[in-house]
Amino acid sequence: MNWATTVFKNPRFLDFFRNLNENVLTFLNLYVQLAIMKIAVVGLQWGDEGKGKIVDYLGKNFDIDARFQGGTNAGHTVHFKGKKVIFHLIPCGLLNKNLIGVIGAGCVFDPTVFFNELENLSKFDPDISKRIKISKFCHLIMPYHILLDKIREETKQGIGTTKKGIGATYEDKYSRVGIRMGDLFNPELFKEKLRANISRKNVIFMEIYHTEPLSDSEIYDKYMEYAERLKPMIVDDTKFLSETVANNKNIIFEGAQGALLDISFGTYPYVTSSHTICGSASIGLGLPPFNVENVIGVTKAYTTRVGLGPFPTESDTELGENLRKVGQEFGSTTGRPRRCGPFDVSVVKYAARLNGVKEIILTKFDVLSSLDKIKIAVGYSNAKEFDPFIAGELSPVYEEISGFKKDISQIRNFDDLPPEAKEYIKLIEHYTGLRVKYISVGPEREAIIKK
Ligand code: GDP
Ligand code: IMO
Ligand code: MG
Repeated sequence: MNWATTVFKNPRFLDFFRNLNENVLTFLNLYVQLAIMKIAVVGLQWGDEGKGKIVDYLGKNFDIDARFQGGTNAGHTVHFKGKKVIFHLIPCGLLNKNLIGVIGAGCVFDPTVFFNELENLSKFDPDISKRIKISKFCHLIMPYHILLDKIREETKQGIGTTKKGIGATYEDKYSRVGIRMGDLFNPELFKEKLRANISRKNVIFMEIYHTEPLSDSEIYDKYMEYAERLKPMIVDDTKFLSETVANNKNIIFEGAQGALLDISFGTYPYVTSSHTICGSASIGLGLPPFNVENVIGVTKAYTTRVGLGPFPTESDTELGENLRKVGQEFGSTTGRPRRCGPFDVSVVKYAARLNGVKEIILTKFDVLSSLDKIKIAVGYSNAKEFDPFIAGELSPVYEEISGFKKDISQIRNFDDLPPEAKEYIKLIEHYTGLRVKYISVGPEREAIIKK
């Protein structure tokens, strides 16, 4: 045996090469991931999946965090230096000081909420407003929109909205009578549009809902004051973003709500009034679709929903209560208790298809530690797949595995998870056909496991 054969047949040498091979693959994988840095982060259930935590976690590697739809109905929670911060309108990655936040054309904007949020965030960064760009195209949520939303919610028409005026503002946008951010800077035109809108709305208030009419002068003064303060932040977002794309900047497209609340593909009419799937990122920011290079879906390790509407795996027994209690499932925007139940494979598969998602981030996995048995809905007895038209009639079929009954919130390596926890992840991957890329095990930024 010559020296070369001795060396090549040595198990240590072979191991070295095998590891090297794996390392090269990991490196290549990482390189591909790093090269794809225009990523949409979207919710794959009924909202509140933990998008806030994930955007904040990913934020350090990006330059821009752009919201493309929704408005103050969103509540994205971030835990930072022991403090809990809830973002409604301002992009939630901005505690990362490297990020510039964009509130895009597809959003609806309430200046009152915005300035409250800004004041709160100034505690973390007194200059934060210098890192915020607001689209001149986005529509303004006006006091009459909020009033309409509230009044309607008190009637039979109510669907359990957040009462932030979202639906009424999008209605005006698509009826082509809405007031846009850019209109604030032409006071005469603004006044004219405001008067026309208020006189139309007063007919509704007085004739249909028998409430007091609104006056335009107070609203005008208030919005003119806002205009002054907003002015330095207003941009043409389509131009700003196309320049950042040309300069190879990395962008997170921050989705709000979740796929099942999408105005077209969600559980209509129990949905929000915007498109919540990744296709909306292009429309909501005026960027071509191919600029959304990758999409990551965020899903809870179980399911929740706020407001009315079908929810096949909803549990009104001890299980649901336990999830609500341990997972602190109360709305970030309205404080309402969230409805809870097991993970629904078919819902996530449906949402992944709409978003072209191949990889998911599983959040709130630590919450399942409290359960003796973990149930997962692997299909329905009366349908092949999820279909929003029959969502109220679907009968889930469950598989059950042993719970892991161990605090996993301090674990940071996949290998250190208990076998039952690994089994649950494997089941989710098997049934959804999606790869679980990260597992979140606590609300804090660092409480995450890369798989
Ligand atoms: P979003 O709307 O998708 O951003 O989600 P919300 O912020 O409305 O709701 C998610 C809630 O779960 C927030 O209170 C987060 O702080 C919290 N959270 C996020 N990830 C985790 C996690 O992995 N474990 C636990 N226990 N809480 C989490
Ligand atoms: P984030 O971004 C959960 C729900 C409301 C209601 C329906 C319509 O935090 O995930 P709307 O006020 O939009 O007209 O209400 O949509 N909803 C949300 N549920 N998370 C949200 O946002 C939501 N935004 C709206 O509860 O059922
Ligand atoms: Mg939320």
